[in-house]
Amino acid sequence: MPLKKLKKFQIKNICCIGAGYVGGPTMSVIAKYCPDITVNVVDINKDRINNWNGDFDKLPIFEPGLAKIVSDVRGKNLFFSCDVHKSIKEADIIFISVNTPIKSHGIGAGEASDLRWVESSAREISMHARDHTIVVEKSTLPVKTAEIIKSILESTKQNSDGKNNKITFSVLSNPEFLAEGTAINDLENPDRVLIGGEDKESIDLLREIYLRWVDEKKIITTNLWSSELSKLIANAFLAQRISSINSVSAICESTGADVEEVAKAVGTDTRIGIKFLKSGPGFGGSCFEKDILNLVYICKSLGLKEVASYWEGILKINDWQQDRIYKAVVDKLYGNISGKKIVILGFSFKANTNDTRNSPSIKISKKLLGEDATLVISDPKVAKNKILESLNIKNKDINFVNKISVEINIAKAIENSDAVLIMTEWEEYKNIDWKVLQHKMRKPAWVFDTRSIISVEKIQETNLNFWQLGNGEFN
Ligand code: UDX
Ligand code: UDX
Repeated sequence: MPLKKLKKFQIKNICCIGAGYVGGPTMSVIAKYCPDITVNVVDINKDRINNWNGDFDKLPIFEPGLAKIVSDVRGKNLFFSCDVHKSIKEADIIFISVNTPIKSHGIGAGEASDLRWVESSAREISMHARDHTIVVEKSTLPVKTAEIIKSILESTKQNSDGKNNKITFSVLSNPEFLAEGTAINDLENPDRVLIGGEDKESIDLLREIYLRWVDEKKIITTNLWSSELSKLIANAFLAQRISSINSVSAICESTGADVEEVAKAVGTDTRIGIKFLKSGPGFGGSCFEKDILNLVYICKSLGLKEVASYWEGILKINDWQQDRIYKAVVDKLYGNISGKKIVILGFSFKANTNDTRNSPSIKISKKLLGEDATLVISDPKVAKNKILESLNIKNKDINFVNKISVEINIAKAIENSDAVLIMTEWEEYKNIDWKVLQHKMRKPAWVFDTRSIISVEKIQETNLNFWQLGNGEFN
């Protein structure tokens, strides 16, 4: 490929399109370990960029350890801006890290990824790149998206002045495996870094960036399509384990077994492993559902009906888990929650993040509202406007607005409530003093623990009724 002509090609400037949960932390860590490389993170969302450039304790993403890194490198070799064109022009390597939601309409609606932003990023790159440029897919994408990117880069090679240019591109796939809440540790100590591509020189250049802090044995190189597919399959396997253990949680409740004990007994078999065997209110987040839907769509497109329905089952169990938690709440409160005050503790999709995308709290809150319950929602990191936005509640929905309040202080939130539903495993919820707080609730009062974080011994010292997911003794 063209790099042979550019023997001295070195990465001095990186551009990342998309300053989101993936782009922001990933580029911050790259900037930390590559002080000689300028890293420009660009985004079309002005507010987001302003927040990245604002106070370190108000960055748009809450992620343990992130603020420290940003404060060390921002303004030195890490820059956030909306100047997409300029940053593309200056870049030797461009990461595409834009969001790829599920299509809401048209062919593949509800399953296929909406690639409009990936496509527009590729068009911007083809128009504004000035020299040989390596383009890296960071977003999780359907298999063969690299081909689309390549085709756009090749066919729309025009400068902004309209003249054809002779710029060359190499496309690589470098999916990100970080999990929110542990993103910085995952980036600094990854299990592996995956680079897929056809052009060895470009792969080596990207490899050299990671080699600054990642052991070479952990850097796996594959062809483009294996890399793209591996990301979808890794997420599908992780989600599959969660649905497996969640299906077991229901068996435990009906038999008197305890899912925590079963998970430990099963997971200590080193062939199975203990991770991702925590039962809960179903998986949320921006990736699992989307990636499985994508996988299902790909399988159907390939005529692999049985494979598609196998993976679809994982999503069905996830929905069913959330549905049965909501039904358990209604059932325990005498089949009627109309006008009853229910406290939702935790609105992010997991602890240590302010991200609410696909949070189980959203689905369960909506179902409870549908039964006319009054909700008080509390979360240490998710702001009130984000909670209301996630529930899709506008001021004009007077019926709902009056039924929801947001209260960060747990003691205040619990006042006069009939039930508390623990939805996210935030550390502070593990240490709630129920002996004290029980007196604030209306009797008979219930605590529903969907994350198995409450000490059974401690709750038994109170007069509270208790339901714990997957615990046959308490349901
Ligand atoms: C990532 C991945 O990229 C996605 O494929 C994966 O499935 C989930 O994780 P994430 O970083 O979490 O996405 O998304 P988000 O936080 O929404 O950030 C994407 C950013 O890209 C947004 O800030 C958005 O404004 C920006 N964007 C989008 C652009 O700058 N340009 C565009 O054309 C489109
Ligand atoms: C996931 C993948 O882990 C990561 O590799 C990929 O890059 C993006 O998608 P993320 O969604 O950020 O990361 O968080 P993760 O820790 O995987 O949790 C996803 C959901 O599964 C959360 O709702 C979490 O509460 C739930 N979960 C996780 C369980 O219910 N049980 C578990 O044992 C683990």
